[in-house]
Amino acid sequence: MTRSITALFGIELPVLQAPMAGVQLSALAIAVCNAGGLGGLPCAMLTPEGLRQELDTLRAGTDRPFNVNFFCHTPPEPDAAREAAWRAALAPFYRELGLDPANVPAGPGRAPFAPEIADVLEAKPPAVVSFHFGLPAPELLARVRRWGSKILSSATTVDEARWLEAHGVDAVIAQGVEAGGHRGMFLGDDVATQVGTFALLPQVVRAVKVPVIAAGGIADAAGVAAAMALGAAGVQIGTAYLLCPEATTSAVHRAALASPETTETALTNLYTGRPARGIVTRLMRELGPMGTTPAFPLAVAAIAPLRAKAEAAGRGDFSPLWAGQNTTGCKAVPAAQITRELAAGIPSIR
Ligand SMILES: Cc1cc2nc3c(=O)[nH]c(=O)nc-3n(C[C@H](O)[C@H](O)[C@H](O)COP(=O)(O)O)c2cc1C
Repeated sequence: MTRSITALFGIELPVLQAPMAGVQLSALAIAVCNAGGLGGLPCAMLTPEGLRQELDTLRAGTDRPFNVNFFCHTPPEPDAAREAAWRAALAPFYRELGLDPANVPAGPGRAPFAPEIADVLEAKPPAVVSFHFGLPAPELLARVRRWGSKILSSATTVDEARWLEAHGVDAVIAQGVEAGGHRGMFLGDDVATQVGTFALLPQVVRAVKVPVIAAGGIADAAGVAAAMALGAAGVQIGTAYLLCPEATTSAVHRAALASPETTETALTNLYTGRPARGIVTRLMRELGPMGTTPAFPLAVAAIAPLRAKAEAAGRGDFSPLWAGQNTTGCKAVPAAQITRELAAGIPSIR
């Protein structure tokens, strides 16, 4: 089996721009596709109609292959006791900001991949569909396979990589613990045993036959070269694109990324209910980064009013400032330039 992902996806450069929900839409993906990489559209926060519009924009902006990305968690049953405990933990912040804890609107959703989303994609299948948190139910996955999109998902352990290969993915993303955003973990929930990129990658390369894409902490050409030397067929990079003009990264998020003091990150479940890596904020410092929250994605609702009020005052105290451990690649330059600079680490290009 070939491990070439350029041939597999029909792209020039084995550089994938990580789909990043909340900080980008099609503009970033278009820029990366047109630079020869694989741009990614994060769809976890899009309605079917929103998805249709973004796909139209993407297709108007590039005729190259692209990746559409979905979460595939099981929506939780609301749990009144957990919600009440969570609101009680946040009550001092509500008081301080003059907010009414009795008045919390339903939070922005994170919808899992579903039949009505598949209907939108099937009309004009994208080259690549990627998933986070495992894979969707077998009959839904079979639909994606039937219409011919290549299938990707993230593994955070060797066991998850083997599981994904056994369930038919075309390539595995080995997501090291350095990575920004949500951990893709789906077979376990112990963040203490999560593995660093350069420990995980060679073990996954040995364990599976499909191509392995390295993700987490890769920020420049030297990092790309190191991943390729350890057997990666390509790289997936998120954090380095966060300051690009094509990203929709918020002002507080951009300021935190650009500030030399605030590059300390931690895994936290406070913002959504699932562990994700972000810049340490006041909320994470004062409650501790891992807490007892409602299940993913229900923790979002009670945080949203705090986040909005603080951001209106220019503060990111209650904002998920997702970022990986290595923010040295973050530059406010066009995404095509970042892509070209990263691609200089690919052996065939050097
Ligand atoms: C702001 C941000 C949002 C993210 N959102 C998603 C997402 O919606 N779907 C996904 O599969 N991965 C998401 N990720 C994780 C990336 O796929 C990838 O694992 C990570 O960015 C790689 O590590 P790096 O950030 O150090 O480059 C996100 C990462 C960041 C930084």
